[in-house]
Amino acid sequence: MDGIAGKVAIVTGASTLIGQGVVRAFAEAGACVVMADIADEPGMAAAAEMGDKVRYLHTDVTDDAAIDACISFAEETFGGLDFLVNLASTYLDNGVATSRADWLASLNVNLVSGMVFSDKAVAAMERRGGGAIVNFASIAGKRAQPGRMTYSAAKAAILQASKNAAMQFQPMGVRVNTVSPGWIWSNIMRDLTGGDLDKTNAVAAGFHIPRRVGLPSEVAAAVLFLCSDAASFITGTDIAVDGGYSAIGPEGFEDAVAKLAQ
Ligand SMILES: NC(=O)c1ccc[n+]([C@@H]2O[C@H](COP(=O)([O-])OP(=O)(O)OC[C@H]3O[C@@H](n4cnc5c(N)ncnc54)[C@H](O)[C@@H]3O)[C@@H](O)[C@H]2O)c1
Repeated sequence: MDGIAGKVAIVTGASTLIGQGVVRAFAEAGACVVMADIADEPGMAAAAEMGDKVRYLHTDVTDDAAIDACISFAEETFGGLDFLVNLASTYLDNGVATSRADWLASLNVNLVSGMVFSDKAVAAMERRGGGAIVNFASIAGKRAQPGRMTYSAAKAAILQASKNAAMQFQPMGVRVNTVSPGWIWSNIMRDLTGGDLDKTNAVAAGFHIPRRVGLPSEVAAAVLFLCSDAASFITGTDIAVDGGYSAIGPEGFEDAVAKLAQ
């Protein structure tokens, strides 16, 4: 993809499987990457495995000073900053019974931190003549899911806030878009199934048209496209990397009309 090689990206939440997939895709396309996360062990291990162009930096995205330090680290280590991927998230959520403290903690990580990080990153991108930001939304920001409240609200807000940011960062030459993944093979699925991808695919089959979960590399491909020169006229929009989750109607794959004749 044109426009990725030789550039510099920060990926927050990079220690997770999906984050590592995004980092690997950038690195394989010739970009340098700062992995920003608070999960140090998997982040450092992944960075070491991916070589000199990938560095891990402990970065709590809820801490403004840590965000500043991360951006400075990217500029000092790799010479600038071109792309920001806001992927860090928390599933802290108790549905409608979520406490005020947990609401605020969830929104802080899931929504506010990505926007604060973006605002700070844009100044560095402007020094390079522009850049691109990709924010992770979700099918959860478009459809109700059992037991969820704060996470879904944050993801819905990201979809809107990213459009506003696209307008506000245009003068600095920065495009802003979102990806909305469906079920993706990720830490939570690996941990819940003991690493059983087949079991995960069987559960996901009913609500994804390809009848399986997506892979981190498949979300990463959309992120890279949105950062590339090929997306130069694409800003303020969302790519649903959801295997058709948001396209399928409530009948799912069942022929409900046939039931009328039974
Ligand atoms: N897993 C899925 O199927 C799925 C579906 C749709 C969207 N997504 C989105 O993809 C992204 C990754 O999802 P996941 O399931 O891998 O999530 P995850 O919870 O496994 O990983 C989130 C990462 O964010 C990091 N993080 C949390 N708080 C942080 C903080 N204060 N500072 C820095 N890093 C912090 C965690 O350490 C972790 O590495 C999220 O934005 C999520 O909303 C995931």
